[in-house]
Amino acid sequence: MSIKKIAVLRGDYIGPEIMKAGLAVLTAATKESDFSYQIIDYPFGGAAIDQTGTPLPETTIQGCQAADAILLSAIGGPKWDQAPKRPEAGLLEIRNKLGLFANIRPTKINPILAQRSPIKPEVIAGTDFVIVRELTSGIYFGQPRSQTADAALDTSTYTAEEIERIIRVGFQMSQHRKQHVTIVDKANVLATSKLWRQVAEKVSRDYPTVTLDYCYVDAAAMKIISQPTFFDVIITANLFGDILSDEASVLTGSLGTIPSMSSGSTGPSLYEPIHGSAPDIAGKGVADPISMIQSIEMMLRESFQENQLADQIAQAVQKTIAAKVLPPDLGGTASTQVVTEQIIKNLKG
Ligand code: NAD
Ligand code: IPM
Ligand code: MN
Repeated sequence: MSIKKIAVLRGDYIGPEIMKAGLAVLTAATKESDFSYQIIDYPFGGAAIDQTGTPLPETTIQGCQAADAILLSAIGGPKWDQAPKRPEAGLLEIRNKLGLFANIRPTKINPILAQRSPIKPEVIAGTDFVIVRELTSGIYFGQPRSQTADAALDTSTYTAEEIERIIRVGFQMSQHRKQHVTIVDKANVLATSKLWRQVAEKVSRDYPTVTLDYCYVDAAAMKIISQPTFFDVIITANLFGDILSDEASVLTGSLGTIPSMSSGSTGPSLYEPIHGSAPDIAGKGVADPISMIQSIEMMLRESFQENQLADQIAQAVQKTIAAKVLPPDLGGTASTQVVTEQIIKNLKG
């Protein structure tokens, strides 16, 4: 079997802490398996600004392009907030250069953690949806953009082609789920959203068994917390998906557990927690590593079809949660290291 290349971007603040935890779990889970891989570290984000002056050095983008999968923890933070090119610009650039237009962000309730959610258990019971977020266009990338002391301009653009390819990803996913697609938009105001609806109508004809509906983003923000079981596959634009996925994470008990996958039509996919570098808790050893560990589980499943290894990791995480070895964001007192060690112990059955 060939040796898979995994590009690792350790990032900033809690980034290196959770990446260390994730890789320790990967090492332990794969020790007696046939899965062979090589970890290759590249500078990225604030760490890369410090080393090279830019958040996405050429060697990093080339290394990522040549990899079979990419693991990223999180970047950014106050240290670089005034930098001419912030770490976040590197994140947008890597998504764009690798063509990672489809970002999958799952929200699934773990019954053991249900009481951690600020939403009533009877409201969240059975919640299981994915947000399919468009990741390389919309207001994040539209031109022109400008800023002076008196005025600033951002442009929201979408081509029909960009809309169609992300909507197809969502419909495709729904076929292995509850066959229910909700397009979240602002079609009562925005021209881009009106085009999203036209394209969705067209694409839906190819998926006659899938129920398609639409929800304005303001109402969707309400419905995600008042009736989350309504949703199966939410397909939405870049900015809406960013905001709604952080909101949805609250249903599950903590932002610190949610993984994501970003893919293009070809080339390696990138796996990363949906959260940021959490500067407020960095260096304290208390970051929740579950988002990173579940991102690695997702990588094993989606990029390498190593379902058995992925299942083992999922079960070990589940056992650890059931045993109440929990980090502070989930109401426990266990450190990143203790949680990680417990997950590794639980891999053994
Ligand atoms: P954040 O997601 O870093 O943190 C929000 C809150 O959630 C904080 O209280 C934090 O402590 C908590 N949190 C997040 N992850 C956690 C974890 N694993 N365990 C425990 N608690 C966790 O958002 P922010 O504070 O708004 O942003 C901080 C920096 O991260 C900014 O520079 C932002 O641009 C960047 N950011 C990067 C990414 C990324 O790399 N993909 C994503 C979002 C934000
Ligand atoms: C995310 C982050 C990024 C985004 C930022 C850091 C640019 O919030 O991955 O959710 O807005 O996409
Ligand atoms: Mn975000």
